[in-house]
Amino acid sequence: MTERTLVLIKPDAVARGYVGEILGRIERKGLTISALELRTAPGDIAAAHYAEHEGRPFYPGLLEFITGGPLVAAVLEGPRAIAAFRQLAGGTDPVEKAVPGTIRGDFGLEAQENLVHGSDSVESAEREIALWFPQFAAN
Ligand code: PPS
Repeated sequence: MTERTLVLIKPDAVARGYVGEILGRIERKGLTISALELRTAPGDIAAAHYAEHEGRPFYPGLLEFITGGPLVAAVLEGPRAIAAFRQLAGGTDPVEKAVPGTIRGDFGLEAQENLVHGSDSVESAEREIALWFPQFAAN
């Protein structure tokens, strides 16, 4: 079944020059890149995107980080795209959870600067795509 997922290549990955590496892994996996945009996240979109984490100790720092430099937002499409991208990404903590061979396991050290975000469910994907690509969600 074809799904859509919302991916962010976070500011740490852009600053470190990993956009091409990450997009290459996405393409080699066989996922289709249906939308792609380099932008600096406005505060309201960042806050809405991470609303489920409001109140957690890392939330203010997370908003500062995610709005602090350009990121790449993308919509990916393909069979089981949500799980497929999360497999590529690896677990949230790049050392404790992500294994080598994954994006976070290969390139990350911290739970915040963990290079990428991928939607965690069909509902999250719909919400996040509507937030980052309203024109795309309407189609
Ligand atoms: S967890 O560990 O289950 O709460 O992680 P998760 O719900 O998958 O995602 C948490 C998002 O917040 C970012 N973040 C942190 N997570 C855990 N600990 C710390 N200190 C922290 N700081 C920031 C983390 O990168 C996850 O972002 P996304 O974009 O969803 O991957």
